[in-house]
Amino acid sequence: MSTTSTLIQFRLNGEPVSRQVEPHHTLLELVRECGLHGARESCGQGLCGCCTIVVNGQAVTGCIYPAMHAEGAEVGTIEGLEQDGQLDPVQQAFMDAGALQCGFCTPGFILMARQLLRQNSEPSDHEIRHFLAGNLCRCGAYPEIIEAVKLAGQRMRAAA
Ligand code: FES
Ligand code: FES
Repeated sequence: MSTTSTLIQFRLNGEPVSRQVEPHHTLLELVRECGLHGARESCGQGLCGCCTIVVNGQAVTGCIYPAMHAEGAEVGTIEGLEQDGQLDPVQQAFMDAGALQCGFCTPGFILMARQLLRQNSEPSDHEIRHFLAGNLCRCGAYPEIIEAVKLAGQRMRAAA
């Protein structure tokens, strides 16, 4: 074990986790080493949103977020959204609206869309585009993604 490594403790999708991390370790590497592969590395530079992870309720780009900063945090990934076999409403809306092709970008979009809908359950197309501007989809599924966010918002408002 390296002398620079540090033991951190945090909660990952509600479960307590302890891990040794190095200063250069990213949160993306950490969650993937914990067996959660929904967050992916694409650009590796904080530019595409494929590595989105939620830390204490805020979305972060896991590829540039130091793993050590997860000490004591509540960390959430796409794998934590499903409850009792039921997809989260945003996940379900992405499925129903056909808002994915290869799916590589999808976890990041879904986590960001959830953040948006928590702040604004009826966003306009412009507000959705603006909020999701940091997430890139190489397949170009943007029109369906916007529809999915609106559909999820409708359903969440109806269920409130
Ligand atoms: S892989 Fe992290 S922002 Fe692109
Ligand atoms: S669905 Fe393929 S990159 Fe977005």
